[in-house]
Amino acid sequence: MKEQLANIRADALAAFEEAKDALALDALRVKYLGKKGELTAVLKQMGKLSTEERPAMGQLANEVRAALEQAIARTAQRLEQAALEARLCSETVDVTIPGKSPIIGHKHPMYIALDEIKDIFVGMGFTVLDGPEVELAELNFDRLNAEEGHPSRDWSDTFYLDEDSRVMLRSQTSPMQVRAMDTMPLPIRIIAPGRVYRKDEVDATHSPMFHQVEGMVIDKGVTMADLKGTLNLMVENLYGKGTVTRFRPHHFPFTEPSCEMDVQCHKCGGAGCPTCKGEGWIELLGAGMIHPNVLRMANIDPEVYSGWAFGMGLERTAMRRFKIADLRLIFENDVRFLEQF
Ligand code: DAH
Repeated sequence: MKEQLANIRADALAAFEEAKDALALDALRVKYLGKKGELTAVLKQMGKLSTEERPAMGQLANEVRAALEQAIARTAQRLEQAALEARLCSETVDVTIPGKSPIIGHKHPMYIALDEIKDIFVGMGFTVLDGPEVELAELNFDRLNAEEGHPSRDWSDTFYLDEDSRVMLRSQTSPMQVRAMDTMPLPIRIIAPGRVYRKDEVDATHSPMFHQVEGMVIDKGVTMADLKGTLNLMVENLYGKGTVTRFRPHHFPFTEPSCEMDVQCHKCGGAGCPTCKGEGWIELLGAGMIHPNVLRMANIDPEVYSGWAFGMGLERTAMRRFKIADLRLIFENDVRFLEQF
């Protein structure tokens, strides 16, 4: 029996050395130490030994079992290490292969134009304001001197959010004038860009959602000459030195006098072409001297202070800036179009 045990030990240790992987090692464990294993079979014969022989043989058998178990643990570790090394070799990364370059975003042409406009006005000491798109009709109309019955208040023109026509999607950025007058100390110089909403059908020049930039100055001794000077400066910065503008009389409830400013057509230089619909001029914005009623409603004394304001369509401004013919291109977000700017 002693000899048997010695043989098992020698055989098993040699076999473990040869094991190629964890599976093979486990099969060997079963072969020697399993229920029907070789060592187990020897142990089962212990009962046949005499009482004198049994303790020494029992001890030897235990030693062999311990030796085999240790050898299995060692081999398992060796195999694990080898497997890891093999994986590291086979999974090497070739860092010299060119990578996939990520597609990097790009500023929308309208926001490029807006950034230019902001730069121009911030450079003249204006503050840029942001305001709510869901607005009170009181600020969008009443406080701007557009009383009940004014055509732009009609349900066919404006998106109201309640039955009583008190809350609406702002139809212009002009309510930001009121918000500035109510919250800022005088003198005030602000621009307020943002989205506005009107019930218009989509076509080459209309969209139910578009952007405006509102501008306003209130100070002592402000005149129409300041308005014209400032707007001409903006246009020259935006469209290039020598860009020609003209001011036409117009009507807005919140300014008196009121005007519209046109820019000479960039396509034909004023001769008349399809871009300017034969006019030679392209309308860019509405403006005027702030109506005394509007100042009074904000508790500003029109005998002491005066002011001017303007509101311009941002899409239209960007379209002229980048010579874009159709408004829809601005909103469709076709990358092939946007990448050109
Ligand atoms: N809010 C006007 C519009 O949407 C544009 C406008 C005209 C704004 C004259 C002004 C202004 O501030 O003084 O058509």
